[in-house]
Formats: sequence, structure tokens, C-alpha cells
Amino acid sequence: MGFNIAIDGPAGAGKSTIAKKIAAKKGYIYVDTGAMYRAMALYLLRVGATLEQIDEKCEGADITIAYENGEQVVYLNGENVNSYIRTEEVGRMASISSPNPRVRRKLTELQQKLAANADVVMDGRDIGTCVLPDAQVKVYLTADSHERALRRYKELKEKGEPCELAIIEKDIIERDHQDMTREISPLKQAEDAVLIDSSHMTIEEVVDAVIALCTT
Ligand code: DC
Repeated sequence: MGFNIAIDGPAGAGKSTIAKKIAAKKGYIYVDTGAMYRAMALYLLRVGATLEQIDEKCEGADITIAYENGEQVVYLNGENVNSYIRTEEVGRMASISSPNPRVRRKLTELQQKLAANADVVMDGRDIGTCVLPDAQVKVYLTADSHERALRRYKELKEKGEPCELAIIEKDIIERDHQDMTREISPLKQAEDAVLIDSSHMTIEEVVDAVIALCTT
């Protein structure tokens, strides 16, 4: 087993930003598991799967990961789908399809294989609790919902996209609820995870705090 750093937490807590920086500093591979759930969601949308058909249809999705120019590239049945998985529609479908046990089993296996032989920083919702229960470092990264909404609002404004802070915050609270209350692999802090609340921390402060934990 390589050195595994597991970072879990709610949407908008800054997991991917932090995980990418740690991976770059330590020369580890960054594994974005949300992108895999998004690729599965894209497939299900493309085949027009209803909620009842997710179980059967998910078997048609062959999802693999490659690293090109230091970036994680997600392949869906041989096609690079990185540019299609960040839409609201795909995000919504990912939230609906990710509680499905077959979808989770398929993607968990892929994630465990990636971590078996490499040093990885992996982020998601169930990494410390289910995917990598033996990870050497586990972090539960959170921030209060208003702060997370504000970060997302600034990001969208910078891109020139129309948005409303109150709606973003409402969406974030709804997604938290959905992720935390689902039956299978709900989002929760692993017993041995270190809680980091980034509400009043800079990105560099969070990165340093996680790196300080990598002493084993
Ligand atoms: O982090 P994200 O927004 O890219 O995640 C997309 C969806 O996938 C989100 O609804 C939560 C789900 N997900 C999950 O259930 N388990 C993971 N390990 C990662 C993401």
C-alpha cells in the first residue's frame, strides 16, 4: 500500500483545491472521486436511465482514469469526458445516482485499485470511512454553509455567471442533507479523522495543517 491521504467533507469545503495542492507538494497522485460519480451520471443521462433503471444501466459504463499533463482525466467507455461532467445537470444526476449500491461498489473498487500501489490524496464523501479505511492520514474538511456559499458565489461571479447567494446557500444545505442522510456510505467524519474547519483559514493554512499530519 502506498501512502494514502483521505479527505472527506461537504460540497464547497475546498477539498479539491486543498487535495490538489497537497498532491503537488508531496508528489502524490490526486484522485477526484466526485469526477467518477459525475462520469457515471453523464452515462446515465446519455442512456436516458430512469431512477428505477440505474441499477441495471450502470453496468454499461466503463469508467477509467488516466493522468495527462498532471491532470486527472476521466474516460467513459473510452471517451475523455472531463469537459462534460461539471454541469449542474450532471451534478444533480450524480447526487441522485451516487446512493445506488451497484454504482458505489463499481466506483469504490476502482478507487481502491488506484490507491493500492500509489501514494494518493483522494477526496470525496466516504474515503476515510469506506474506500480507504486504513489510510495513514484522514481529514474531515468542512466550513460553515454560509462561507461555502460565499466562496461558490464569488467563483461564479468571476466567471460572469448569473447567481444569487441565497439560492446557492439553500442548494448547499440541501446537498449536505442528502449526502449525510443517505443509507449507504453517508458523508460523516471517520472516528479517526482530524476535523479541519476552514471557515476562517486560508488555503495555505489548511494545506500546511494537513501536511503536518503526514508524519507516519
Ligand atoms: O464532489 P462532487 O460535487 O464532484 O461530487 C459529485 C456527487 O458525487 C455528489 O453528489 C456526491 C457524490 N460523491 C459520493 O457520493 N461519494 C464520493 N466519494 C464522491 C462524490
